[in-house]
Amino acid sequence: MKQTPVYVTKEALAAETAAMEAVKAHAARPSSYHIVTYGCQMNAHDSEKLAGMFTAMGLEEADDRRNADLVIFNTCCVRDNAERRALGNVTWLKELKKEKPELIIGVCGCMVQQPEMAERILKQYRFIDLAFGTHNLHRLPSLLLDLLEQKQRVVSVIDQENLIAEGLPVKRLCSHHAYITIMYGCDNFCSYCIVPYVRGRERSRRMDDILREAEGLLKSGVQEIMLLGQNVNSYGNGTGETFPELLRRLDALGIPRIRFMTSHPKDLSDELIEVMANGKHICNHLHLPVQSGNNEILSLMNRRYTREDYLRKVEKLRAAVPGIGLSTDLIVSFPGETEAQFEDTCSLVREVGYDSAFTFIYSPRIGTKAAAMEGRIPDDVSSRRIAKLIAEVEASTAKAHQSMLGCTEQVLVEGLSKRDPGMVSGKGTRGITVTFKGTQADIGTVVPVHITSAAVNTLRGERTER
Ligand code: SAH
Ligand code: SF4
Ligand code: F3S
Repeated sequence: MKQTPVYVTKEALAAETAAMEAVKAHAARPSSYHIVTYGCQMNAHDSEKLAGMFTAMGLEEADDRRNADLVIFNTCCVRDNAERRALGNVTWLKELKKEKPELIIGVCGCMVQQPEMAERILKQYRFIDLAFGTHNLHRLPSLLLDLLEQKQRVVSVIDQENLIAEGLPVKRLCSHHAYITIMYGCDNFCSYCIVPYVRGRERSRRMDDILREAEGLLKSGVQEIMLLGQNVNSYGNGTGETFPELLRRLDALGIPRIRFMTSHPKDLSDELIEVMANGKHICNHLHLPVQSGNNEILSLMNRRYTREDYLRKVEKLRAAVPGIGLSTDLIVSFPGETEAQFEDTCSLVREVGYDSAFTFIYSPRIGTKAAAMEGRIPDDVSSRRIAKLIAEVEASTAKAHQSMLGCTEQVLVEGLSKRDPGMVSGKGTRGITVTFKGTQADIGTVVPVHITSAAVNTLRGERTER
């Protein structure tokens, strides 16, 4: 059953707009902000909303945390190292605060939404002035106003897991590429994953709201949109609206390029494959996380597909969308994973032939089912497995890149190359980075590039006419 979301009411949103005005007029308000973002694209886009609200409150963006009056950390907790890095950096700011006592330190995002985190912040991290979770991000203006007026710490985390706040101001990082969140939360409860606990129940935005946002972006000259959700394939809000239908309608608007992530293999339907094949603007790339190549591990992970199901879907995609590039996420050392089971993941990488893959060592997350499973894999074994898997992925990437020699890629230029002066880089439709000779003026435009050399990290080429 699809959840019906609860929309934040017009009155509540109006109260936030009033709070923005009050912060703007407040004599003691900070004049600049700096946001540090961890985690996935969802968080990156949430940070664009935070930036939009700060801007509406009259704060200017500081390029460095040392120059800001307010620093906020938008955190991730999907793996232990993500969490440790965030906490380490927040603590580092404690020192800065000694020199600059008026500095406001904020934390928000997934880490804060974990059970008991609010209490921990109150007790253990006394230098944090402002903290809120993922479900009340839209309340930033009134929380900041409380902080300014009451001159005491504000820690506010709520449990309501099915809220959607429409119409928040957004300050986008990039003028030619834009994120659109189409659904929030996740109901899949993969046994290793904390996301459903910190992002709440799966809920989808209204199709009309999404189309309106996309139309606005098209008018503003955006070249590429990326639709976001933890499991976009299951988009739907109980009114019969589906992801293939949404894609078809977005494709008809004429935005030059459409991408989306993440797709759960169990929900990748024939209809979606057909829309990808027939769409004029849908990129020939799919991020399709497999996690493991072994059926017993997939079952323990609660992924609800088998290696064979996955391979069948890959075959269908390749037949329907010629030249499609696939990328994935992989986890090694899930509890109890044997050497043979790990080898199944390696062989799957070879069999599919990915363009790229994110590889992770399993990290136990409190409250998830897998955290209570037996069979912790020793660190030295995990290190060896991940090194081997990375080598497999690199070999697969090298092969995919080689196959593109002599092709022409339509490259959306993202920026000047950091390593090579006089060069620019961007992504082709298949999502692979291409570097070629260019200037600042190319940024944000689509340039046809003939691929002339292929390395593991990047493709190189020359501008052509077509
Ligand atoms: N919703 C997306 C992505 C979620 S998080 C999906 O379903 O694919 C991104 C990736 O982090 C996951 O695909 C998984 O590979 C990895 N991940 C999540 N929890 C993890 C954990 N506890 N340990 C290691 N990797 C994890
Ligand atoms: Fe986590 Fe699974 Fe949901 Fe992805 S689909 S966010 S891995 S529970
Ligand atoms: Fe991390 Fe939250 Fe994304 S836990 S991966 S920032 S949804």
